[in-house]
Amino acid sequence: MKDTRQTNNAINAKEIFELLRDDLSAIEREFGRDTVSNVGAITEIGEYLRGGGGKRIRPALLLLSSKLFNYSGRSVIRLGAVVEIIHTATLVHDDIIDEAQTRRGRASANTQWGNSKCVLAGDWLYMQSFKIAVQERNFRVLDSLIDLTQAMVEGELLQMEKLGKMISADDHFDLIHRKTAYLFSVCMRMGAIVSGASEDEEEKLASYGRNVGLAFQIVDDVLDLTATADVLGKPVGSDLREGKVTLAVIHALERCSKGERAMIETVLRERAFRSVTLDQVLDILARYGSVDYATARASEYAQAARDNLAGFPDSEIKRALLWVPEFVVEREK
Ligand code: IPE
Ligand code: IPE
Ligand code: MG
Ligand code: MG
Repeated sequence: MKDTRQTNNAINAKEIFELLRDDLSAIEREFGRDTVSNVGAITEIGEYLRGGGGKRIRPALLLLSSKLFNYSGRSVIRLGAVVEIIHTATLVHDDIIDEAQTRRGRASANTQWGNSKCVLAGDWLYMQSFKIAVQERNFRVLDSLIDLTQAMVEGELLQMEKLGKMISADDHFDLIHRKTAYLFSVCMRMGAIVSGASEDEEEKLASYGRNVGLAFQIVDDVLDLTATADVLGKPVGSDLREGKVTLAVIHALERCSKGERAMIETVLRERAFRSVTLDQVLDILARYGSVDYATARASEYAQAARDNLAGFPDSEIKRALLWVPEFVVEREK
């Protein structure tokens, strides 16, 4: 296997931020202009969400993808805002569905404005993102965004159907592909499309995005089990409390004793750590090395993402793209 690690160390987070700073600021301004409505509640909710922070990893990927081909123009600024607005809309809806109280270290929008207003604000944001995307007059861009939005909704629906139940690893991967990795993939693909990349280059970058996205969600699910709420900005153990069986738990359930399985099922049924504590579940996972297993799977996807870049010539941007999977796997929030 080709060692990509050497070049990988040659660029760090600060340098990448410098590289993208102006464009990310422009995307931020675009996002701000785009989420204004003459209905006050929408602007308020939009402002609240935009001001809540967030890593902006999706627009960053879109920018890097287009910069790989030396593209710099308005399209990526607009589309950067589009993907972040779509991401924001999915989070608003996700927090309603999950009955989440906190997001990004503060009250989630649904607890501030209530579910009904937030459903509508989410819908408005989706439509607004398409309104901006239409300005591109590019059917391939629109096709990708429509497929994406449907895939994400399908992912959330599949997840709801599986709540509280054991799920096969295959079904789980299908689900996290739709709900998370698809968007990462579309960010990379759109960067390639607007830059006039070849079909082969576009597919490689789309695959890179998918692999980074899968790693990202696996790590999100691991952090839900192992991080602290302070660092994460959302409570830990939420997935089990919401009835979500994620990779580490699937791994343990496939191996554990009847008694241990019953304990995990109790949490899923009670939708609370009442009769069984989170620490008890973590003990079971530790016994089977399940968190390590999930982390190792995330690392495999991260490496697969790096491998997708093998055919591209060395450049500062390529080094940045090689670094992203590492960041995703090693992040603490
Ligand atoms: C959260 O995404 C939703 C998942 C796909 C796990 P992020 O972790 O990128 O959220 P922000 O935008 O940084 O808050
Ligand atoms: C990711 O799933 C949500 C979306 C892709 C919208 P989660 O439900 O795990 O995300 P968090 O943990 O609430 O951020
Ligand atoms: Mg959630
Ligand atoms: Mg989560």
